[in-house]
Amino acid sequence: MTHAKLIRPSASFYASWLESWDEWGTLDQDGAAAFVAARYDLDLRDSSDFAAWVEVLHHLPRESFQPPGGLANQSTIWVVRDDVYLGAVSLRHSLVNEYLTEVGGHIGYGIRPSARGHGLAKFALKGALDEARELSMERVMVTCKQPNVASARTIEACGGVLERVCPPESFAPDLGVTEPILRYWITL
Ligand SMILES: CC(C)(COP(=O)(O)OP(=O)(O)OC[C@H]1O[C@@H](n2cnc3c(N)ncnc32)[C@H](O)[C@@H]1OP(=O)(O)O)[C@@H](O)C(=O)NCCC(=O)NCCS
Repeated sequence: MTHAKLIRPSASFYASWLESWDEWGTLDQDGAAAFVAARYDLDLRDSSDFAAWVEVLHHLPRESFQPPGGLANQSTIWVVRDDVYLGAVSLRHSLVNEYLTEVGGHIGYGIRPSARGHGLAKFALKGALDEARELSMERVMVTCKQPNVASARTIEACGGVLERVCPPESFAPDLGVTEPILRYWITL
């Protein structure tokens, strides 16, 4: 089997990306798909909207590009093997709103269910950390819900230092947090 690779989003993965979406059963996979598609009113099952979304993902890392409200400049990296889409990681360049500052942090990632347990989340997170270093970021905040053991172990394996466990009642109610959040920092 060939090795997994980290790539920039590509419309050529349309069919495989849809299969992954069906496997997940939700569009809310990695912090980029649902949120970005909603901001741009894109239906990602439509091939031309999918291509438009990929185009937006290419623009979003550019600091000269001003995304619509609530959206951070961000880099999106996909994990693929051959022509199969396996997952994604998004690096928000700055924490532009209360949700990101308190809950979401700089990095979101997701691996499709059939590809989990093979080190791909660690591979993807390390790729995002390399990107953050290239952007001269000094440290990144990475969070996960306390019961998400696989995510916590991913963060810890990549150098995450736990700052604190934040109980749901410590967040403003409109942030919609219902479980304790583990708040980590990774120094780059
Ligand atoms: C969390 C997630 C990204 C992990 O992806 P993955 O590719 O299976 O993770 P990896 O194989 O790289 O494993 C990372 C670590 O988690 C551990 N792990 C993986 N699956 C696990 C499980 N089900 N239970 C406990 N630990 C697990 C691995 O052993 C590894 O830790 P180690 O280095 O100490 O051995 C994946 O389960 C996922 O996409 N979940 C849904 C989305 C999500 O939760 N995203 C993160 C939001 S904060």
